[in-house]
Amino acid sequence: MIINNKVYKQRRKQLAKTLGDGIVIIRNSSDQIRSNDTTYPFRSNSYFHYFSGFPESDAVIVINCKPFKTWIFSKTKDKTKEIWDGFIYGPAEAAKQFLFDQGLDLKHFNDSVSDLLAKNSKVYLLQEDLSLRGLVSKILNHLSKNKRADAFLKNEIISLNSFVDRMRSIKSIDELKVIRHAANISSRAHQFVMANIHSDSYEYQVEARLRYFFGAHGARNEAYSSIVASGKNACTLHYIENQSRLNKSDLILIDAGCEYEGYASDITRTFPIGGKFSEPQKDLYSVVLEAQKAAISQVKKNNSFNDPHTAAIKVLAQGLRDFKILKNSVNAIIEKKEYKKFYMHRTSHWMGLDVHDVGDYFDPKGKPVRLMNGQILTIEPGLYFPDDRSVPKVFRNIGIRIEDDVLVNNNQAEVLTSSCPKEIDELESIIGKG
Ligand code: GLY
Ligand code: MN
Ligand code: MN
Repeated sequence: MIINNKVYKQRRKQLAKTLGDGIVIIRNSSDQIRSNDTTYPFRSNSYFHYFSGFPESDAVIVINCKPFKTWIFSKTKDKTKEIWDGFIYGPAEAAKQFLFDQGLDLKHFNDSVSDLLAKNSKVYLLQEDLSLRGLVSKILNHLSKNKRADAFLKNEIISLNSFVDRMRSIKSIDELKVIRHAANISSRAHQFVMANIHSDSYEYQVEARLRYFFGAHGARNEAYSSIVASGKNACTLHYIENQSRLNKSDLILIDAGCEYEGYASDITRTFPIGGKFSEPQKDLYSVVLEAQKAAISQVKKNNSFNDPHTAAIKVLAQGLRDFKILKNSVNAIIEKKEYKKFYMHRTSHWMGLDVHDVGDYFDPKGKPVRLMNGQILTIEPGLYFPDDRSVPKVFRNIGIRIEDDVLVNNNQAEVLTSSCPKEIDELESIIGKG
C-alpha cells in the first residue's frame, strides 16, 4: 500500500481543523444485490475511503471536531458469517488498525450519534446521503420531543461536500504516487492491446485483454466500464456494449483506465485495427491530435479551466473548415457553436478517487475556476462524424478521441499518461506486432 493509515488519520484531523466545531458523519456504501444472494463487487464510497481507508461496506465514521475525537462503527465480528463472506474486522480491531479513538458496533450507531447530536449544534453530512440525512433528522426530532435538547431548532445540518472537495481536488505527494502508478499500468495496457489487436475478433475480447492486463499488474478493477468502440460505435460517446465484430479497415476507439488503491486513470486512444491509417482517417486523427496538444499547452497554474477547451475548439473548428465539412469562418463556427455537431462534449474533467472527480468547474459567479497546482484534469478532445449527408462520405461513421491525464504544475504541466503512444508513426509501428 502506498497510502498508509496515518495519512487517513491526518486527513480527519485536517478536516476537523478546517471545520472548527461540530460533528461529521460519513457512511460507506452498502453491498448491491445482483440477484438473489449474489452481490456486485463492492467499492467503497470515495469520501468514506478518503477519510478512513476502511474497506467494509455499511461502516460509518464520526468525527467530533472539538475536542478532536473519532469513532468507527462497523459490523460485528461473526465467525459463522466469516465462513461464508470472509474476514470481518470487528469494531475493536477496525479502530486499532485504522487509528480511530474508538470502535463501536454498528448497532449502537443511533444511540451514540444521538448523544453526540444532543451536545453539538452543527452536523456535517454528505449532501447526497439522503437516507443518513433522514436518519439524523429523525434523531434530532426525537431529541427535541424528549427535551434532551431543543435539537431540531438549534441543530444545523450542513453539507460537507464543498469542504472535502477542496481537500480532495489538490493531490498530495502520496496520491500522486498512486495515480502515476495507475496511469502507468493503463498506459501499458493500451500498448498491450495495440500490439495484440490482430488476435482479437470482437470488441469484448479487446476488453478482456485490458482487464487481464490491469489485474495481472496489480490493479484488479477498472476505474469505469471500458469503452471498446470499433467503427461507427465510436460515435456513441458512452458505448460500453463492446459486442461488435472488428473490421480491419475501421478505427477502434478505446477509452479505458484502471483503478489503483482507489484512484482512477483515464486514457483514450484511437487507432486503425488493420495497422495503417487510411488517408481520411489520418487527416481527421491529425486534427484531433493537434487539438489535444494545443489544449495540453494551456494547462498552466492560474489559467482558466476553460482555456484548454477553448484551445482545442480553435484547432477543431479550423480542421472542420479545411475539410469543407463546415463552410463558415473559424470565428463564426466557434461563435455559432457549429462545431458542436461533431464535438459535443467538454475537453476536461477533474480526476482522482473518482474518474469524474469532485471539484467545482465554475465559481459562484459562473466564471470558470482557475487551475491550481496539484489538480489533475483530463484533456480529451474528439471528433465524431454521423452517417449524414452533410459529411463527406469518407468521413462518415468515424469517431476519434485522444485522452490523457494531466497534472497542473506551474507552467510545466505533467502528462501522467505520456508513455502511452499517440503519434501516427508510433502507433503504426506497434499495432499488431505482439
Ligand atoms: N472515461 C470517461 C471519460 O473519459 O470521461
Ligand atoms: Mn475522461
Ligand atoms: Mn475516458
